[in-house]
Amino acid sequence: MSPHRRALLFFALVTACERPSPTGPASGGDQTAPETNPAFDVATSEPGSPLPFLTLAQRALFERGRGVFQTEFTPATGLGPLFNNNACSQCHEDPVTGGVGEEVETHQAAFHGGVCDDLSAIGGPVIQDSVTPALHDALGIDKEPSLPEATGTAHRTTPSLLGFGLLEAVPDAEILALADPSDRNGDGISGRPNRTADGRLGRFGRKAQFATLAEFNAGAFVNEMGITSPAEPHEQLVRGEAFPPGVDPTPDPELTQEALDATDAFVRLLAPPRPLPRTLVEQRGGLIFLRIGCASCHFPALVTGPNRVAALSLKIVRPYTDLLLHDMGPDLADICLGRAEPAEFRTEPLMGLRFKTAFLHDGRAGSIEQAILAHGGEAARARGRFLRLSAGERYALLQFLGGL
Ligand code: HEC
Ligand code: HEC
Repeated sequence: MSPHRRALLFFALVTACERPSPTGPASGGDQTAPETNPAFDVATSEPGSPLPFLTLAQRALFERGRGVFQTEFTPATGLGPLFNNNACSQCHEDPVTGGVGEEVETHQAAFHGGVCDDLSAIGGPVIQDSVTPALHDALGIDKEPSLPEATGTAHRTTPSLLGFGLLEAVPDAEILALADPSDRNGDGISGRPNRTADGRLGRFGRKAQFATLAEFNAGAFVNEMGITSPAEPHEQLVRGEAFPPGVDPTPDPELTQEALDATDAFVRLLAPPRPLPRTLVEQRGGLIFLRIGCASCHFPALVTGPNRVAALSLKIVRPYTDLLLHDMGPDLADICLGRAEPAEFRTEPLMGLRFKTAFLHDGRAGSIEQAILAHGGEAARARGRFLRLSAGERYALLQFLGGL
């Protein structure tokens, strides 16, 4: 473990034991968690709540954004011609709006000689599984045809977004301090950042291919629902061709900048879920998690930088991720995106793990234990140490994870 990692880990463990401030927050805070300082640790025991300490204007924008996130679009209000579903909240829905979902979608990309083409020029990487009646009538298709140019096809379950605004607010330097691309410390774990085409640090998406939530959200409107916006003014294509006339009569952009901004505020200001209260068994499981090297990638705690939104400024978030890419071995490999190669994935945050019923990027694992057993590549050693745990230790670890 590098000195940076060690220092951060120490910090995380110390702050995890902090006592509450005697007065507590004036309002809106979460009073039910005696073990942490709410001025610093903003996790909530009511999933779906906004971060504490929002201004009235921020709170109003959050509620307006939740409304847009829950809006069911129709062809008359811009849905399609290609889409996967008709509302953000149709997919991100459990246990609350903004959470996980059962939908699994298809992505395709082409990887040639180390160079990734996300096939966006011809309709990739998201392959929509539904079309509007007008597109069906014009082209006789029921979904976007898969792309013969693709060298890989991926399936993606719907992740939770709770607490992701804090992940966006973590300074680049803190994430880069966790990277060890040439494995200088020889622990078998490298970890490297993804980068956008213009060189910014990637954080969002299973391959960390997006730098900001605003860009991901604008992409989600057009990729998941066929809703164009000022940030993404062009519809998805079928085989790189424009749609036949009359198929998409709604003028672009179909969403206003104001509605897009409100959606961004909603996603950014969702509080992270607080882990369930810990018994001694789970506390032991947490220590085993550190001991067997899970935390080398699932880094327990990050701290946000100074932020003009006070609710995001200098807060601790316990995401259990380093936001870096790791080679997970050939069995999990699927597509490239940005600089991420087919076998590389962003360490999946484990915050909110208890709300999931299907695990890993495509939901192939039906339990947390199966997900651990599927870890290969850089995580093979940690998997080996998991397999050598006693039955009691394994139980404690799984109890700990099941409460996150
Ligand atoms: C059809 C289901 C579906 C709909 C509708 C949908 N999403 Fe998602 N969302 C997904 C999937 C699947 C992923 C994972 C993508 C990946 O791994 O690259 C995702 C990922 C995300 C992420 C990144 C999370 C992460 O792990 O980094 C954000 C942010 C997001 N969605 C926001 C939205 C917003 C905003 C909307 C509405 C405009 C929306 N989504 C609509 C399925 C959906
Ligand atoms: C080399 C980095 C690395 C190490 C070490 C590692 N993981 Fe992971 N973990 C990942 C990545 C990357 C994913 C996402 C893989 C995917 O979706 O295919 C993941 C996914 C998971 C998931 C599934 C999360 C979800 O939401 O579906 C669980 C649970 C998990 N890891 C637990 C553990 C435990 C427990 C250990 C220690 C035994 C561990 N991991 C060690 C990188 C790592």
